[in-house]
Amino acid sequence: MRTIQVKDFDDWRSKARKLIGNQVPPSEVQLFDDDGQRSLFGDSPDLDEASLATFRVSKEFLSLAQSVGYHRDFNRWNLLYRALWRIKNEQPYLLEIETDVDVHRLIQMEKQVRRDAHKMKAFVRFRKVERDDKEYFIAWHQPDHRIVRRVAPFFSRRFKGMNWAILTPDETVTWDQRELRFGPGVTRSDAPGFDELEDLWRTYYANIFNPARVKVKMMKSEMPVRYWKNLPEADIIDDLLTDAPKRVEDMIQQHEGFEQTAANFIKQTEIESCTLATLKEMAAECTACDLCRESTQTVFGTGPVEAKVVLLGEQPGDQEDIKGTPFVGPAGKVLDQAIRSAGLNRSELYLTNVVKHFKHVKTNNEDVPNGTKRLHQKPNAREVRCCRPWFDAEWSCLNDAEFLVCLGETAAKAILGPGNKVSAVRGRILATDYCEKTIVTWHPAAILRSPFEGQRQEKMRELIKDLGLAGR
Ligand code: URA
Repeated sequence: MRTIQVKDFDDWRSKARKLIGNQVPPSEVQLFDDDGQRSLFGDSPDLDEASLATFRVSKEFLSLAQSVGYHRDFNRWNLLYRALWRIKNEQPYLLEIETDVDVHRLIQMEKQVRRDAHKMKAFVRFRKVERDDKEYFIAWHQPDHRIVRRVAPFFSRRFKGMNWAILTPDETVTWDQRELRFGPGVTRSDAPGFDELEDLWRTYYANIFNPARVKVKMMKSEMPVRYWKNLPEADIIDDLLTDAPKRVEDMIQQHEGFEQTAANFIKQTEIESCTLATLKEMAAECTACDLCRESTQTVFGTGPVEAKVVLLGEQPGDQEDIKGTPFVGPAGKVLDQAIRSAGLNRSELYLTNVVKHFKHVKTNNEDVPNGTKRLHQKPNAREVRCCRPWFDAEWSCLNDAEFLVCLGETAAKAILGPGNKVSAVRGRILATDYCEKTIVTWHPAAILRSPFEGQRQEKMRELIKDLGLAGR
């Protein structure tokens, strides 16, 4: 029996290729985690480097193997090698046989890793510490699996303007706004236990110039555009205006983590036992942003926890706000029709929104009984970001979700990042931080708002087609 130590997935991959090339059957090799200690048995130096196998394995297997590599089961490298051997020598389409014991276990492990990664993304909370006049943000987390390296790039994108560290018993990861570095694991007591984020955010927000306040319309009405060129500052006005949305986004990107968000309403003590029902209860109490003041209630997602397809809208509308359920108003009717035409069943889907409160303005309208009408207003980037922890937490509960369908621009931008217009990305299956199979499509309200019948029909056809992709 050979014994081989494996550091990580890349190491397993190169060793497995060598083993396959040397025709070593799985029954004659034991693959162990390389925990930094010298093996009693040593590696297998006699394997022939020259006979590195050149056969190709499918992308599906590689992606499955990579995920399983993060699992804590000590036997995972052996199981992966056995599956690889069988694919090469016995059954090239092994992965399609979901009833096979090895395949079943691999899929189960992949799901457990995916779920754990979602949990980490949703529930890690940073605390500020100051050292040598510098601010650091430190979080403690105890994942079920060895997922730190899988999840770290997500945090470096999301908190790219902060110096942060995530401490876990397996390993630590630090980010200095340029590079991720990994080190040995630590114990819980190494993480700081206080939180000053809220104050910091308030002070910060109150003191800086906020480019979101550049009001183009007002500037133009105060001074006609044709006079701008005579002003000494004229050169910079264009740049200022062009840059404003980006600067708003950068500002938020850099300082996300300082602000008051829904995360403050997710009780840390209950994370482990979190269910959609407990999350809904917690969300009902959320006052993280001002939208809760003018709306009737928090409208949380609905649908079975085992849903395979998750539909993400923008925010509840007037009817949803009153009834407390997403997509029950006019846009919901259009969506229902599209869902049916796509061959899906609404009761099997999970429906939710990026923002959980109804943002609106009141206008006088004599056609309605109480004389005022509530008109939908688009949530801004701050409100989206503030509410995002609810979707993160919902997503972390939805273990079986395979497709995430973003309905409209607000959902697309929340999941794919700014600058993703529906017309540019719709109808394709995209891999995102949330889901390997993310689809962007038209919001049903955009269909209702389209001025021409032809446009409405075309968008409806596309919405049905895109939902059909998820249905398949
Ligand atoms: N529009 C949405 O985005 N969500 C709803 O729940 C209703 C209308």
